[in-house]
Amino acid sequence: MPGIRGPSEYSQEPPRHPSLKVNAKEPFNAEPPRSALVSSYVTPVDLFYKRNHGPIPIVDHLQSYSVTLTGLIQNPRKLFIKDIRSLPKYNVTATLQCAGNRRTAMSKVRNVRGVGWDVSAIGNAVWGGAKLADVLELVGIPKLTASTNLGARHVEFVSVDRCKEENGGPYKASITLSQATNPEADVLLAYEMNGETLNRDHGFPLRVVVPGVIGARSVKWLDSINVIAEESQGFFMRKDYKMFPPSVNWDNINWSSRRPQMDFPVQSAICSVEDVQMVKPGKVSIKGYAVSGGGRGIERVDISLDGGKNWVEASRTQEPGKQYISEHSSSDKWAWVLFEATIDVSQTTEVIAKAVDSAANVQPENVESVWNLRGVLNTSWHRVLLRLGHSNL
Ligand code: MTE
Repeated sequence: MPGIRGPSEYSQEPPRHPSLKVNAKEPFNAEPPRSALVSSYVTPVDLFYKRNHGPIPIVDHLQSYSVTLTGLIQNPRKLFIKDIRSLPKYNVTATLQCAGNRRTAMSKVRNVRGVGWDVSAIGNAVWGGAKLADVLELVGIPKLTASTNLGARHVEFVSVDRCKEENGGPYKASITLSQATNPEADVLLAYEMNGETLNRDHGFPLRVVVPGVIGARSVKWLDSINVIAEESQGFFMRKDYKMFPPSVNWDNINWSSRRPQMDFPVQSAICSVEDVQMVKPGKVSIKGYAVSGGGRGIERVDISLDGGKNWVEASRTQEPGKQYISEHSSSDKWAWVLFEATIDVSQTTEVIAKAVDSAANVQPENVESVWNLRGVLNTSWHRVLLRLGHSNL
């Protein structure tokens, strides 16, 4: 691809924030300390988790960089960055979450394969860019199209980065044509993150953002958009990022028996304290995030100090100083809420958080019930142990 290269080695990686916890070096995968997530509604770019399957592409010449629109369309064409920027610009506040968020906790039940993540493979950003629905209109596919007379039903995003899972080929993923052409789904070709030009780690010069869907479908460093009949045949759609039942192991797995995971389920995590943390007797502020996929709001976040027998409700906010109402037009439907409850600690206590979304979906009580061999979608009640002792909290 003119203008951008997907290198095969790691000598030209971008600089990264020193406080990131590095879970893998090559490819670079890192998450911020959990306390950083609750210090602001919008996660600062340098503290946003980074999930890469290969070395970071290098842009040599932005003017010659283009995205090819091809596949089952009448008139394939190339779009340069200026063409994308000339379309109406939208700012969408959306939480991106890796399907492997909280994998480390799942691996404590039984071994799982995958990069170990604590609770911070998640972040909330304001993504700026063009709507995919507007881009597809440029090649003759109207808004709200589920299928075309050429047999198109899916839209595939192909990157320029090279990964070993694809045998040195590009990272790719797809979504349905109906989601891609629905302006309300807010799927973006983003060139900005938090009002700044997207940086290299997050997909410069252009990435897809699919709100409400696991991060794996938000393809970075976009090379081409293919309008296709079947789902993408890429590794990450067919042989990864699927959720299997606890009974499936590496000997009996049948990858084609499950659909690729798209929307993420309701999730929450406590971030203001670590598991296990020493606290002094008295009041402790419990803060964290809660989010659900598919644009569903967060109806409630409950906190328990007695193993789930009794619960108190936490307060929820998005923008500071503004009331959050789940599913209301004034709320950011694709974004997390931050929750807070003040508890009184007089003995060593396990604190539990669980969220309920606007469809009344609830996080499962135990990680055992959602355990799967790839360690994805651990949304079990989040627990932290506060030990009584001397601390500065
Ligand atoms: N896109 C490309 N081209 N290559 C990748 O490795 N990783 C995916 C997705 N898009 C990936 C990609 C995964 S698994 C996640 S969770 C998100 O990007 C992470 O996005 P971030 O690094 O901007 O946080």
